[in-house]
Amino acid sequence: MPAVVVADNITKVYPVGQIQVPALRGVSLAVEAGEFVSIVGASGSGKSTLLHILGGLTPPTTGRVLIEGTEYGSLSDAGRTTLRRRAIGIVFQKFNLLPTLDALGNIEIAREIAGRNGDAAEETDKYQIHLIALLGIGARLHHRPTQLSGGEQQRVAIARALINRPRILLADEPTGNLDSRNSDAVLAVMAELNRTLGQTILMITHNEAAAAIGHRTLHMRDGQLA
Ligand SMILES: Nc1ncnc2c1ncn2[C@@H]1O[C@H](COP(=O)(O)OP(=O)(O)OP(=O)(O)O)[C@@H](O)[C@H]1O
Ligand SMILES: [Mg+2]
Repeated sequence: MPAVVVADNITKVYPVGQIQVPALRGVSLAVEAGEFVSIVGASGSGKSTLLHILGGLTPPTTGRVLIEGTEYGSLSDAGRTTLRRRAIGIVFQKFNLLPTLDALGNIEIAREIAGRNGDAAEETDKYQIHLIALLGIGARLHHRPTQLSGGEQQRVAIARALINRPRILLADEPTGNLDSRNSDAVLAVMAELNRTLGQTILMITHNEAAAAIGHRTLHMRDGQLA
């Protein structure tokens, strides 16, 4: 199986005033197509930093990231944005839904930003209906974020991340702000997406039990993977 996400000896140092804060100290990993990989680690161990670097949102200080064989560092800003939009969907811990749009509006704005052409639009309509059913949010499409439970908001955020069919889903503590019932619902959806759509998933969590729904778990400690 080809690796769709490769991190090759990544480091990240944040300058804070006169001090250099090392957040990642030589991280390498490879995620294959169709894999569901979990990363567990304590607060401050570097998980979000790694996810942002893999998602092309932040450059590493040293090291390389390859997405489907293409290195972010070899691309222009525009090229990196295109690669990211085509290949990657990101779910953030705090949902980040637009408060003035309802659930459907939040999903559809992601389609508009990606700017699909006419042919793909029809296909995406079908996929959207499928995704909404799979995520169990069909009865909540005209609710705004404040009118949704945390679990529902996170499921809308997952639909938004997936609507343009990215080959890779990166999720940063998708259950971090949820109670156990909503957390279970979101984890079940992640497992289902991986099983039925073959969705490649890299999920960060601080919870071993949540991590266990993936195929394998990597442990992050002080900026290193074990
Ligand atoms: N923008 C920044 N500037 C300076 N230091 C930062 C910055 N972002 C993160 N750090 C530091 O880098 C380290 C790793 O942070 P990161 O957010 O990756 O941790 P995390 O594992 O995601 O933690 P949590 O579980 O609390 O979300 C921490 O020590 C943090 O203080
Ligand atoms: Mg974090």
